Amino acid sequence: MPHGIRDPTKALAKATLRDYNIFVCISFHDRRYRGFPNCTGGKMSVIPSNGGQPPNFQTTGARPTSQFSQGQAGASHLTAVRPKVTTSTIQEKKQRREAITCLTAYDYATARLVDQAGIDMILVGDSLAQVVLGYDNTLPVTMEEMLHHTRAVRRAVRSAMVIADMPFGAYHEDEKEGVHNAVRFVKEAGAEAVKLEGGAQRVGLVRRVLDAEVPVMGHIGLTPQSLHKMGGYKVQGKDFSGIERLMKDAVALDKAGVFSIVLEGVPREVAEMITREVSAPTIGIGAGPDCDGQVLVFHDIVNLTFGEPAKFVRRYGDAAALITSAVQHFKADVESGGYPSDAESYHLAKETRVELEAILRRKEMKAYSR
Ligand code: KIV
Repeated sequence: MPHGIRDPTKALAKATLRDYNIFVCISFHDRRYRGFPNCTGGKMSVIPSNGGQPPNFQTTGARPTSQFSQGQAGASHLTAVRPKVTTSTIQEKKQRREAITCLTAYDYATARLVDQAGIDMILVGDSLAQVVLGYDNTLPVTMEEMLHHTRAVRRAVRSAMVIADMPFGAYHEDEKEGVHNAVRFVKEAGAEAVKLEGGAQRVGLVRRVLDAEVPVMGHIGLTPQSLHKMGGYKVQGKDFSGIERLMKDAVALDKAGVFSIVLEGVPREVAEMITREVSAPTIGIGAGPDCDGQVLVFHDIVNLTFGEPAKFVRRYGDAAALITSAVQHFKADVESGGYPSDAESYHLAKETRVELEAILRRKEMKAYSR
């Protein structure tokens, strides 16, 4: 179905809503939902904000080479390989009905690869808690941990838009604290936007964060930070009251001015209706193909999550197999004496070696003559 056309009447959406008679139950079994098996264009810019410090890639040595061409010493002439992605780029893509791409990343190396692959937005998701830090859910991850990982991603990324996920507790107790924490992500970690979970109940906070000049990505549907309130990881919007609630949440966030809305764990038909209704681009995860864009957890698509993936996850690579094989080969080589080879060793200069041998010989002779 084509999307991106704003439906002028809510009535139509509501009528369509009544016509739907689907009760979908999707189970989520991957690590992100572990423990709950019940069912669940902008303008060309070459230097992104980086807490005032643009990344300084080297072109030699073990450091990765830059995707930017560096000029002569002192004066670097940076040429972007693709334009900087901004909130305007994302909104323009919806208008042009071009699919928006988003992946999570939590560290320098993967963020760099994701950016170089041309992904529009990089989300430093609080899924970090599970896929990187090994927690059972997203609730324990702290502001300091999120800031630390956002900084690493910031240092790697040149073109993609970097979005930091506000962790549980960073905006739930009081709005002032929420604004303060959103500003910290921009000021201390170089994020270009923040994401926060919740719909109509977050409108006041969203407005205040926007007043503080920080773009906001909304997130509704299956919101993992509401795990206990939801009674597990369950697909949301399966009955009429749920669908209506989701639609109201999406419209409220849209009116408040979010630049995009993540729809997670929502029936395809509901995601499609929301996508037509709101002007903000919708970014789906487990919400079907009719959203304006898609987001997945990086570790899910490369098989680094150690469990059965959720229904919506598609695996595009097997990093677990690649890493295991590399580690096993290293172990075998060290144990057999095959690593390191002479070619992988540093050597003395010839004159130094000759002199050293002479010294050792003299020492030996001295010892022998005693
Ligand atoms: O934390 C996360 O990774 C997320 C996305 C997958 C939407 O919230």
